[in-house]
Amino acid sequence: MSPPSLSPPSGPPPGCPAHEPLYGPDFAADPAAVYRRLRTAGPTAPVELAPGVRATLVTSYDAALHVLRSPETFSKDPRRWRDLADGTVPPDSPVVPMMMYRPNALFTDGEQHERLRGAITDSLALVDPNTLRGYVERSADTLIDRFAPLGTADLLGEYAQVLPLLVFNHLFGCPAEYGVRLVEGMSGIFDGVDAEKADELLTSTLLDLVALKRGNPGQDMTSWLMAHPADLTDEEMIHTLVVLMGAGTEPQQNLIANSLRLLLSDERFAGDLSGGSLPVEDALDEVLWTDPPIANYAVHYPLHDVVYEGAVLRAGDPLVVSLAAANTDPALTADQRAGNRAHLAWSAGPHNCPAQSPARLIATAAVEKLLDRLPDVELGLPVGELSWRPGPFHRALAALPVRFPPTATVQRPEGERPSYASPLPALVTEPPAPEPDRPRSGWTRLLSWWRGE
Ligand code: HEM
Repeated sequence: MSPPSLSPPSGPPPGCPAHEPLYGPDFAADPAAVYRRLRTAGPTAPVELAPGVRATLVTSYDAALHVLRSPETFSKDPRRWRDLADGTVPPDSPVVPMMMYRPNALFTDGEQHERLRGAITDSLALVDPNTLRGYVERSADTLIDRFAPLGTADLLGEYAQVLPLLVFNHLFGCPAEYGVRLVEGMSGIFDGVDAEKADELLTSTLLDLVALKRGNPGQDMTSWLMAHPADLTDEEMIHTLVVLMGAGTEPQQNLIANSLRLLLSDERFAGDLSGGSLPVEDALDEVLWTDPPIANYAVHYPLHDVVYEGAVLRAGDPLVVSLAAANTDPALTADQRAGNRAHLAWSAGPHNCPAQSPARLIATAAVEKLLDRLPDVELGLPVGELSWRPGPFHRALAALPVRFPPTATVQRPEGERPSYASPLPALVTEPPAPEPDRPRSGWTRLLSWWRGE
């Protein structure tokens, strides 16, 4: 990586709008066009993450790597965010929950980060890939059984969104009744419905889970985290569990959905969908390059004013790394693209995603199982008519409607049913109740499903 050139600051070139919005329908419909415009300002450009929330977006691959790999200059700690501290950004801005400080690996630097991250990486290393694949396949079968006889489905709401949550309940050793409360708490926070009450429910459930595992540890992430020599306190355990669940579910669902969208719409994959894992692995790699699930994040705060390629990056101003723009940087040399995993979808540097292997395995198994069970599945809409959720951080479809010839459910012996289904065994084979009129988020849908509504 070439060192930053120190030259006098200059403003945006004529015609380049100051503070381009990274929210709203135009950005969601065509983020690549926005990245192209921003590149004309240089490797960094001023943007708005939400109305009145200003930041600098890093759009070049080299600059992204420089920021991600220079913790001595760029901090991850949002308590340095000046506009939030002085009230310029209101605490109820929609981007604050994704950016505010919490004492977890994502928002800490130096030794504190190393300690919290060490507990995560060492515990993740204990996850057995074969067992994980088994969880994914059984969870996938349960969900596919719910819509297979119907001939149509929304693969986002009924599959990609729900599957990671089911897998996580296994991974974290959640008894079924805790699973219901966790989903209720998470759904309240994500849907913004009585968030305070939802937060209390989530915290009290995680405290109960931690207490349960302290007394009765098992072969699960929760137990491994608390047995780790880092000796996490109960409070640190709660924050670590929340970051793992939050970091793990949203991007995971988007990798599954974005890969299915590509496989079902791109002629290069046509006719080859049941031909083994090669097309699935290829589709995953392509999505990680072109539509990474976390498009713009890895927020850093300069520790002091920095001049980078002519732009002033002021201490305490958020610097957001566009993993999506960096990946599609036209200046990327063939050499840099060579290893086809050199993309930044998992970020880079000390905060890169510690769950790359399990996340990739979950996505591959989920996509393969779906294509295996429904080999003739096709998009229910022309690909150009699919819509994306607005918002600066995620590259997330709003829905993924598909149709397929209705098929029978898989009948499994009682003992082979997934354990989370045990309180509601009828759900494994019965079709779902008709959808009510109002749109429901995946969280709410999962909660109703879990309760048998
Ligand atoms: C397709 C799925 C996933 C993608 C694309 C993804 C991507 C990322 C990215 C880009 C970051 C860096 C964020 C930043 O620096 O601000 C990150 C961090 C992180 N991810 Fe993932 N992730 C995925 C799945 C998961 C899963 C399944 C887990 C947990 C089991 C997980 C746990 C974490 C954690 C704990 C961090 C913070 C690491 C640190 O700050 O040291 N991720 N992930």
